[in-house]
Amino acid sequence: MEGSVVEAESLLARCKSVADVNVVEAELIGKRSRLAEVNRELRGLPPDVRRERGRRLHEVRGRIESLLVARREELRAASRQTRLESDRIDLSEVMSFPLDRGGRPGGRMGPPAPARGHPGVVQRTRDELEDVFVGMGFIVVEGPEVETDWYNFEALNMPPAHPARGMWDTFYLRLGDPETVLLRTHTSPVQIRLMQAQRPPIYAVVPGRCYRRDTPDARHVPIFHQIEGLVIDRGISFSDLAGTIDAFTTAYFGEGIHARLRPAFFPFTEPSAEFEITCTICAGVGCRTCSQTGWIELGGCGMVDPAVLGAVGIDDEEWSGFAFGFGIDRCAQMRHGIPDMRVLLENDARFLRQL
Ligand code: DAH
Repeated sequence: MEGSVVEAESLLARCKSVADVNVVEAELIGKRSRLAEVNRELRGLPPDVRRERGRRLHEVRGRIESLLVARREELRAASRQTRLESDRIDLSEVMSFPLDRGGRPGGRMGPPAPARGHPGVVQRTRDELEDVFVGMGFIVVEGPEVETDWYNFEALNMPPAHPARGMWDTFYLRLGDPETVLLRTHTSPVQIRLMQAQRPPIYAVVPGRCYRRDTPDARHVPIFHQIEGLVIDRGISFSDLAGTIDAFTTAYFGEGIHARLRPAFFPFTEPSAEFEITCTICAGVGCRTCSQTGWIELGGCGMVDPAVLGAVGIDDEEWSGFAFGFGIDRCAQMRHGIPDMRVLLENDARFLRQL
């Protein structure tokens, strides 16, 4: 009987699974085990021997039982650990490659790394412009790229056949009556949607994609991005507009770049202006990109025409406001010194990687 504990220890050490432990358990303390036999023999012994033997038997059985419990627990923990390790997904793979000087994977040594993308230059410019305007207290909203004639033209004070519609060469869609549904030519229709959805005061910018049937050249591409601004409040004047344009130009382009307003015409603003900034490609000296003028036109602006307020039922006696709209791609071009805007659409990986 004394040897049983030692035997149990060595049998259990050889167990590789909980099932093995169950077999050993039956062998050690089961009905047909040596201990069970000793127990049965107790009955025929004189009482004092029986008591002594019974006590030892109980003690040995107790020790074997705790060995069984401990070994089972040990084996369960080990199998949990193996499962955890095989379930683990190695997410460090990309980062474990050497990084190049720009922090991208795929340095000189090591296997070629899967290419990691990053937001394009237009998206980043858009994000930065939004940040500037949010910092000035504007909210950011979006509108649809497929528009109706009413939002894109009519509500902006251009009734059908108005000559000013010729300022935007339009892509029409074959939907509904001819020339009623189109790809928006500017972000200005969202001004109308905003004023319908929200009563003044309004301080909002609207970034988004626009489409025009333009022949691509250094400054124009047929799919481009604008950011529209709309402010409607009590007592808003032209000097608020000029101040906003100036604050934006300095915040985004820095101190060396100046903005100027030139009289212009837009049907939805009165008075209207075009705003230009110092050409950053030649620092104002004159180059091919700015057609030797030293200035680059960024967009248009003006005081919201009372007819536009009327189209959405805002009382122009109580409220006034200004609006502006300019090219995001043009900003990216000026900020990064991109001489020809067509590269933005060409998907040349060498260009995309660079910015
Ligand atoms: N929508 C005009 C364009 O695409 C730009 C513009 C001019 C927007 C004047 C405005 C504005 O909001 O007031 O050429």
